[in-house]
Amino acid sequence: MKDLILRPERPGQYRKMEELVRDAFWDRFSPGCCEHLVVHRMRTAPACLPELCLAAELKGELAGGIWYARAALRQADGSKTEVYTMGPVAVRPDLQKRGIGGELIRKTLELAGKRCCAVVIYGNPAYYGRFGFRPASEFGITDAMGETCPALQLRPFGEVPPGAFDEGEVYHVTPEEVRAFDSLFPHRQKHLDSKQLFFTFPAPPPEDPLLKRSWELHCRAEQFLRNSGLLEAWEGIGAKVRCVGSFRAGLMMKDRDIDLHVYTESLDFEQAREALKPFSASPGAELTFIDNAGTAENCLEWHLKMPDDSGELWTVDMIQLPAGSEWDGFFEDTAEAVIDALTPETRRRILELKAAEPDGMNICGIEFCKAVLDDRVRTWEEFLKWRQSNPPGTLLKWRPGRP
Ligand SMILES: CC(C)(COP(=O)(O)OP(=O)(O)OC[C@H]1O[C@@H](n2cnc3c(N)ncnc32)[C@H](O)[C@@H]1OP(=O)(O)O)[C@@H](O)C(=O)NCCC(=O)NCCS
Repeated sequence: MKDLILRPERPGQYRKMEELVRDAFWDRFSPGCCEHLVVHRMRTAPACLPELCLAAELKGELAGGIWYARAALRQADGSKTEVYTMGPVAVRPDLQKRGIGGELIRKTLELAGKRCCAVVIYGNPAYYGRFGFRPASEFGITDAMGETCPALQLRPFGEVPPGAFDEGEVYHVTPEEVRAFDSLFPHRQKHLDSKQLFFTFPAPPPEDPLLKRSWELHCRAEQFLRNSGLLEAWEGIGAKVRCVGSFRAGLMMKDRDIDLHVYTESLDFEQAREALKPFSASPGAELTFIDNAGTAENCLEWHLKMPDDSGELWTVDMIQLPAGSEWDGFFEDTAEAVIDALTPETRRRILELKAAEPDGMNICGIEFCKAVLDDRVRTWEEFLKWRQSNPPGTLLKWRPGRP
């Protein structure tokens, strides 16, 4: 491609590159992204291969980048074979599909081919096949857990022994680390999208039984949402979906409730009802709505009760709002502020209180958060007392640390 230069990254452009990577990956594989943190860590990671980490410049402007690190194939006898792994690879969104990504990948594979026996990646076979990647399973290679994974692909350059692929620590970032790093960038809303692979980053289950129970419910909520087809239905009418409440904050405990905010250009009641019709007609499901258009809340409320594959009933509360209106983003930011304010101790307290709630009391999640985070409530008895002077209706605009 004319005017395209590929060269090693320059320290003066690190931050700009991280912004580019964030733009390219945002909402792509999960709501928000983690790849800008991975790139940030690459610069100091011992496993990183700087000679293969290239920036693409188009007419003097940063257009994309690619990173490589040393990784390993672990053999059954305990020995290890070094391979390289590639990624992230990113092209500025407005410059994608012009061949820049392809040039970055081809050029670096050429260099890598002289130094290693294989490059192993997780990626879409439809894209990477053109660069000589083949399913890793053809070579007897599994993921680190010993599972066959269709996204795991390998570009061979020599003899490759079978084994389990260990991509290495530089790629292992926790949601907390990502949140802290992302807060150094301009605020951006995260969306749920039916094409995303994860709704939250995969993490090992916590050992603490209470936290594990909450985590398991969260995983089931994700699964339910993925299988339900709801995201596709909203996307079909051009809506953007965000999660809010306990599902967003990772504070689910007993209730199989998922709260979504759905943003459309206008509040077209008939269009939304048409999109949701298949759900109201599905066996065991019930869809109710409240028309708040034209009121101060200016929203349509859709409440869907629907059983999952095992017959357990889930409630999805969907608040449809006009994009860009007064409440756009407000509750998403509340959930983020709660996550920021949580400590391991307060998270546990909130979950304990939620677990203690008798069935049918319908206490709003935000009540537990305010009681624990702001007002130091620790027991169920204290919480009941606290509730007498904090009626639920007064908490709409609450944020941690704000009266
Ligand atoms: C993936 C990416 C680096 C490719 O760079 P690019 O400059 O857009 O790609 P190219 O112009 O060389 O190639 C474009 C082709 O790749 C396809 N393509 C791009 N990304 C793809 C993906 N994730 N899966 C399948 N196909 C993909 C395009 O549809 C197009 O196909 P076509 O040639 O058949 O029309 C770029 O699109 C990007 O930054 N995406 C967001 C981040 C990402 O997904 N990175 C890869 C995962 S690590």
